[in-house]
Formats: sequence, C-alpha cells, structure tokens
Amino acid sequence: MVKLIGDKKIKIAVFISGKGSNLENLLRHSFKKKSQFKIKLIISNNPSAEGLKFAKKYKINKKIINYNKIKESEKNILDKLNKCQIKLICLAGYMKILSDNFIKKFNGKIINIHPSLLPKYKGLNTHQRVIENRENFSGCTVHYVNKKLDSGKIILQKKVKILTTDTIDKLKKRILKQEHLLYPKAIKKVLTNL
Ligand code: GRF
Repeated sequence: MVKLIGDKKIKIAVFISGKGSNLENLLRHSFKKKSQFKIKLIISNNPSAEGLKFAKKYKINKKIINYNKIKESEKNILDKLNKCQIKLICLAGYMKILSDNFIKKFNGKIINIHPSLLPKYKGLNTHQRVIENRENFSGCTVHYVNKKLDSGKIILQKKVKILTTDTIDKLKKRILKQEHLLYPKAIKKVLTNL
C-alpha cells in the first residue's frame, strides 16, 4: 500500500508515440488534489508526436528518444527515469516494443492500455479486426507489460457494445472515452499494490 506523506505523490512517466489523448487525460487527473500520482516525465520515440504539445502546455519534462540503437536508447531512457525518480511507467499509445532487459529492470512497474478486450485482439488494427469479425463486444484493457506483446496480467477492463452502425472511427471514439475512464482507475489500483 502506498502511503502519501503530505504532498508526496508517486512519480510516473508516460510513454507516447502519437496523439496523446490518454496522456492529457492522465495529466488532468494528476492535477486533482486527491490524485496519488504526478507525471514527471513524458517519453516519446517520435519527435513529431502530437501529444508532445502537452509537455509544453503543462510544463512537464520530456525526452525524445532516437531509436537507432535500441540498447543505447533504452539506456538513455533508464537514466532519465532514474534521474526523475520514476516509480511507474504508463504506456499510452507507445509504438515501440521494450526489450526484455528493460522490462526486467522495471519489473512489475510498467503498464499499458490496449483498445480491445484482451486476450482477444492483441497487436494493431484492433477496431478493424473486431468489426470484420462481427463481434458483439469490444472494449479496452489496462495490463502489466511482460515479455510477450499485450499478454501481461490484466489490471482492469471495460466492455463496450458494438453497434450495427459502427465504423472503425465511431468505435475507436467510443472506446477511447472508456480508456480515459479506465486508465486512472487502473493506476490507482496499481499504486495500492506497488
Ligand atoms: C489508444 O487507443 C490506446 O489504447 C492504444 O493507442 C491509443 C493511443 O491513443 N494503445 P492516444 O495517443 O492516447 O490518443
């Protein structure tokens, strides 16, 4: 159980590659008085990730990682994480796969949000595949990150009904809304077990 002494909040890092709607949502949460965490660092492998604008907007430390050499890149990330005393990594649309070595170093302290009801539809293009397969439900999952893609222990999930009128975009939007509700709840759950 994490005890908050005075104003001491758990420092987390959010890793992004794209739009960053989950990042902004988590930032907004973190500013609430009752929040147990604060976002100290934003990491992106993509220098033109739209979500990087939130680093500027909310004055959060950011680091862009050039993935030319994975070992070196991950070492740079680890250095930065240590410097910022990061206790939990939240992946939010991060499009790079972290090495086993990196995961080992942050064992049990990396979580990810995925837009499907895992273990179904791991990987990319989930909404498209779900619609093509005429599923009745999809949803989103927050899970721990382990060596296997989208396969770590599930923390929380939310089911979303698929409508006959759904397109990829419509479904994506509805699921994203649920992601924004689910991720902060999952972090809260994780922090109590950290
Ligand atoms: C989300 O759908 C998330 O589940 C997936 O990537 C997307 C990121 O969206 N891993 P955003 O960048 O947070 O808007």
